[in-house]
Amino acid sequence: MTILLSLFLLVVLFSVHAANFHKGLRGLSCVNDYVNNISCTWESSAATPHADCWVLGEQSTFIGRKLGVKEKLIESCKLKRHINFTRGCNLVFEKKKFSYDNVMPYIRVECNGTMMENITDYKPVEHIKMHPPGVPNVNSTANETIISWRPGSLPSNYLKTLSFQTQIKQKHQTWNEAIILSTPQRELWISAGKLKGHCEVRVRVKPILSYKNSNSHWSNWSNWSPTTSWTNEVETSQNRERLLRVVRAGGSSKGSRYQTLQNTSTLSTLSTEEI
Ligand SMILES: *[C@@H]1O[C@H](CO)[C@@H](O)[C@H](O)[C@H]1NC(C)=O
Ligand SMILES: *[C@@H]1O[C@H](CO)[C@@H](O)[C@H](O)[C@H]1NC(C)=O
Ligand SMILES: *[C@@H]1O[C@H](CO)[C@@H](O)[C@H](O)[C@H]1NC(C)=O
Ligand SMILES: *[C@@H]1O[C@H](CO)[C@@H](O)[C@H](O)[C@H]1NC(C)=O
Ligand SMILES: *[C@@H]1O[C@H](CO)[C@@H](O)[C@H](O)[C@H]1NC(C)=O
Ligand SMILES: *[C@@H]1O[C@H](CO)[C@@H](O)[C@H](O)[C@H]1NC(C)=O
Ligand SMILES: *[C@@H]1O[C@H](CO)[C@@H](O)[C@H](O)[C@H]1NC(C)=O
Ligand SMILES: *[C@@H]1O[C@H](CO)[C@@H](O)[C@H](O)[C@H]1NC(C)=O
Repeated sequence: MTILLSLFLLVVLFSVHAANFHKGLRGLSCVNDYVNNISCTWESSAATPHADCWVLGEQSTFIGRKLGVKEKLIESCKLKRHINFTRGCNLVFEKKKFSYDNVMPYIRVECNGTMMENITDYKPVEHIKMHPPGVPNVNSTANETIISWRPGSLPSNYLKTLSFQTQIKQKHQTWNEAIILSTPQRELWISAGKLKGHCEVRVRVKPILSYKNSNSHWSNWSNWSPTTSWTNEVETSQNRERLLRVVRAGGSSKGSRYQTLQNTSTLSTLSTEEI
């Protein structure tokens, strides 16, 4: 009997230990699109899988700015079923757009009505993660490949300067082998001959914050856009010669549209041998 009881205790103690020290539990973390949408994930072993858990967030907005009258807005969302202790949901403030001076008094998690975690003074500007760009459009002609894209959803008016990163690879390569080209524009011009065969491209975006004392580490890259595949025209010796001329001329013969390719170190990474 004593042995059975100790075994039972041992099992209970062990599972409590395993649950509490499960590696990598990060608690509540929230990123936002700087418009009105906050995506929160909660990684915790503190609540049973059956607990009814919600994220609640408070904002205040002036309803009469002159009078200084503030209205409290509280939004909530139900944390979806967990995968591996991680649950997530989106808080959307229909009546309030974020701005630089926004400070949310709290964002918290409640399970079965009990508070589990409380983030105080959440500043949306310090946790931006934009929505990914839409599917890239590729227009490949004998002379050049033009890759362009649109925002996945309308970005905040306060985000004036954006940085895009494109990854281009051949279909059989992995994304780790892709070349990376960065641009502030929503398009990329690549001269013919630099890309060969069956290629794939995807794009992501991040804001460049220009506020005083703002920090580039505040923002995260968006997720990658969907991928577009295309096939380039066969490289001809004529194309190759023109490419070499462009390289020697530092890309200037094509004018300013080839911005990204004017940097010679970028050009060498883009050479036909490597891609
Ligand atoms: C909020 O953002 C998430 C992803 O970040 C997206 O899946 C969801 O559709 C957005 N909701 C609204 C109402 O925009
Ligand atoms: C919450 O309630 C559910 C169902 O009533 C119960 O199974 C669960 O154990 C409760 N969880 C917590 C953390 O109290
Ligand atoms: C759960 O997490 C562990 C360790 O982090 C990981 O190895 C495993 O693949 C995850 N399982 C699922 C279904 O995500
Ligand atoms: C969460 O933090 C805020 C700000 O400090 C506080 O007003 C609020 O009472 C806290 N919530 C709970 C449930 O403790
Ligand atoms: C592709 O580029 C050509 C030449 O610049 C243009 O005439 C055509 O409309 C473009 N097609 C698309 C789908 O953008
Ligand atoms: C491609 O380049 C050649 C030579 O520079 C030029 O004659 C031709 O018009 C160009 N074609 C297109 C579709 O731009
Ligand atoms: C955002 O970036 C920070 C710092 O680079 C990182 O620790 C965090 O995991 C990222 N969050 C998401 C949701 O990608
Ligand atoms: C070219 O790109 C490299 C690496 O991205 C960078 O270090 C260098 O400053 C750039 N040069 C010019 C002239 O823009």
